[in-house]
This record gives sequence, C-alpha cells and structure tokens, in this order.
Amino acid sequence: MTPIIQAKNVTKIFGSTRSPNATRSLNSVSMEIFPGETVGLVGESGSGKTTLARTLIGIETATQGQVYKDGQLLAARRDWKNMRLDVQYVFQDPSTSLCPTMRIGAALAEPLIVHKKCPASERAERVRDTLLKVGLHPDVARRLPGQLSGGQRQRVSLARALMIEPKVLICDEIVSGLDVSVQAQVLQLLIELQNELKISILFISHDLRVVRYLCDRVYVMYKGEVVEDGETGPIFETPQHPYTKSLLASIPGVKHEKPEPAMQVVP
Ligand SMILES: Nc1ncnc2c1ncn2[C@@H]1O[C@H](COP(=O)(O)OP(=O)(O)OP(=O)(O)O)[C@@H](O)[C@H]1O
Ligand SMILES: [Mg+2]
Repeated sequence: MTPIIQAKNVTKIFGSTRSPNATRSLNSVSMEIFPGETVGLVGESGSGKTTLARTLIGIETATQGQVYKDGQLLAARRDWKNMRLDVQYVFQDPSTSLCPTMRIGAALAEPLIVHKKCPASERAERVRDTLLKVGLHPDVARRLPGQLSGGQRQRVSLARALMIEPKVLICDEIVSGLDVSVQAQVLQLLIELQNELKISILFISHDLRVVRYLCDRVYVMYKGEVVEDGETGPIFETPQHPYTKSLLASIPGVKHEKPEPAMQVVP
C-alpha cells in the first residue's frame, strides 16, 4: 500500500547551517502515514515533533530529505498547495488558530471558500452538518470563539479542519490544555470521526496512555531523531530503545496494564 504521507530522511536545521547557533531540530527522520491509520508521535519537549509535523505539510521546509504525498515527491509550490486539500493541521491552542472577531460559522465556511469546495448556497448546510458531526449545536455558528469553552473551541478547530474532508488530520497536542473529562470527550470524538470518515490521524502527544489507547502505530522521537517505531502493542510491551524504556518507566502502569479508569474514554 502506498502511504498517504511519507517523509524520507528529513533533516531540519533552523538558522544558517554554518552558524554555531544553528539548531538541528530533525536529523534524517523517516515516517509514513497509511490510509485510515492513527499514528502516534511521542517524545520529550523539544524532541522535534511539531517541527516534523510542520515539515510534513510544508509550513517548514526540509533542509535535506523529501516528503511524498500518495507516492509523489512534493517539490513545486503547487504540489504543497494541493497537499493541503488532503492534510489538515489542528493546533494545541485553538485560540491562536481561530480569529477572535470572526463568528464560528464564517470561520468554518472560510476553507470552503478558499478551496472552492462547494457552491455558496450549500455552505450554511455544510457548516451545520460539520458542527453536528463534532457534537456541537448548530447555533454555535453565530457565536464568537471567546463565547465558547475550551473544549467547544477545540471541537470547532476540529470542525474547521474537517470542512474540506481531508484524508489526514494532524493533531498536535490537541487535548493537552483540556481537563480530563473534556479530554476524554475530544478523544472519543476523534475515534468516532475516524470510524465514520476513515481518515488517517497523526496524533502528537506527551501522554503515553492516550497514545496507547488511540494509536495503531507509534514513532518515538528523541533529540530530533526517530529512535523507535512500530505497532503500539509491541512498543509498549517490549520497548527496545533505552529512551523508550525510560519514557515508559516514568509512567507507572502504562507498560503492562490497561489504561486507568481516569483515562478511559467516556462519551
Ligand atoms: N522556528 C524555529 N527557530 C529555531 N528553532 C526552532 C524553531 N522551531 C523549533 N525550534 C527548535 O527545534 C527543536 C524542536 O522543537 P519542536 O517544537 O519541534 O519540539 P516538540 O517536540 O514539538 O516539543 P513540545 O513537546 O514542547 O511541543 C527545539 O529545540 C526548538 O527550540
Ligand atoms: Mg510541539
């Protein structure tokens, strides 16, 4: 099967490569995301997770290495533009991605307009349907982001990403700022969306219990490199790399037990 997204030996250096202050954030990283799977990306703060995700969708340009979409090398600007039709990024903090003065309905309609996705007469219905899909009342369309709770805002961010029916959702720490019960609701929503829409998800998280619960495969990053990857079960049960072992050892119960009740997803 051809991966939807593939990174091959991607290196990202911020700053001039000759400068002593340059930061090598990614060092020859390779990863693949196949249709319909949920892929976890874990690693300590600063290990390069966000940089990798941003490089996958062209917000950052790789210093070396290649990114492929559906087997095609992304080279020209137009290739990257087309890729954004299929790959959407949901950020940790929805307040930075939602314009505070734009009503939710307008914010959700915007991607349809930008990508010329559907006739103007159908936009309101698409907005309504997508709000329902993420478990929000259609009246939310009339509100401003500041008039919503954090969990509602995160649902709106997901709705916005889903408006153009992407094949891949990149979720970068999307539940980190939410309290545990709201986290569980948003995770449940992700599971439902995946079952219903069969989209692929790149799920970036510090929370190994959530990753274990949600993901089919996992990549473990350490200091800009992927040190281990594979199916979630074996990675958690028999980690090979010392860093993965230490990561798992720091979280009691994650290796051998089922997720604790607090982490079990409730509707
Ligand atoms: N625009 C930038 N300019 C310079 N350095 C950067 C830039 N963006 C990221 N970095 C550096 O790259 C490294 C990786 O950062 P990145 O944000 O990818 O880490 P992360 O794994 O997502 O961390 P976190 O879990 O805290 O979100 C860090 O050392 C960071 O300081
Ligand atoms: Mg990050």
